[in-house]
Amino acid sequence: MKKFLIIPLLFLSVTAMAACSPSDTPETGTEQPANPEQPGGEDAPDEPDSPDEPVRTKTLVAYFSAQGHTQAVAERIAEVLGADIFRIEAAEPYAENPYDDSNRIQNEAYNGLRPGVGNLPDTETVAAYDTLFVGSPCWWHQPAMVVCTFLESYDLKGKVVVPFFTYGATTYLNESMQTIYRVTPESEHLPATLPEDLDPDNIREPQSDDAGIPMPGNASGVERWLHELGILQ
Ligand SMILES: Cc1cc2nc3c(=O)[nH]c(=O)nc-3n(C[C@H](O)[C@H](O)[C@H](O)COP(=O)(O)O)c2cc1C
Repeated sequence: MKKFLIIPLLFLSVTAMAACSPSDTPETGTEQPANPEQPGGEDAPDEPDSPDEPVRTKTLVAYFSAQGHTQAVAERIAEVLGADIFRIEAAEPYAENPYDDSNRIQNEAYNGLRPGVGNLPDTETVAAYDTLFVGSPCWWHQPAMVVCTFLESYDLKGKVVVPFFTYGATTYLNESMQTIYRVTPESEHLPATLPEDLDPDNIREPQSDDAGIPMPGNASGVERWLHELGILQ
């Protein structure tokens, strides 16, 4: 496993934005992340051996994926970092071919809906992590809205949220990233800031404001991306 360094939280700036207003109530479930780590247990964040040594943090890779592209990236992140991984499931599953659900997906994205999560981990489980990678396909210029439901189900204050997307075109990446930052207003983010959203009220037309947002692209790009973010040294 690669040695990695999590950036001390104090060096990260908080990007706080107004939260989206959920329209649906998330459903509850009992599923827990693979290799769940209990707060305060033997898997609690490691103390450094010396004051100069960075604290190793507990990392969860939570992702939604319909066609496997985001899943492949998530699995590689978890493999490289030795992190736990959790697949977010929609309470009302999407069609096997999600393009058959395009109208539903567009409606959820354009209206900021919050479809239920079928397998929400309990609060204590998520609280045990201090870094949360969150992955989604870009769906109609936005994250899969079930990912927003997941994020809004927890107190993520002070946690580091690292979003990643897979997509067919990068032209809506900024819109998707901005939404994740908005629904986690009290978290810290990697990257700490995003390029200016040229038209925050318009998620329906490309704005050519994606440049400078690092993304893995696919599983083979994960290590490069982690280096770009400063997570891997
Ligand atoms: C209904 C639907 C809408 C999509 N909308 C976009 C989009 O707005 N921008 C984009 O770049 N890709 C879009 N895509 C392509 C997906 O983001 C891309 O195929 C992604 O890698 C799928 O991830 P997954 O395999 O983890 O489900 C869309 C795909 C579907 C099914």
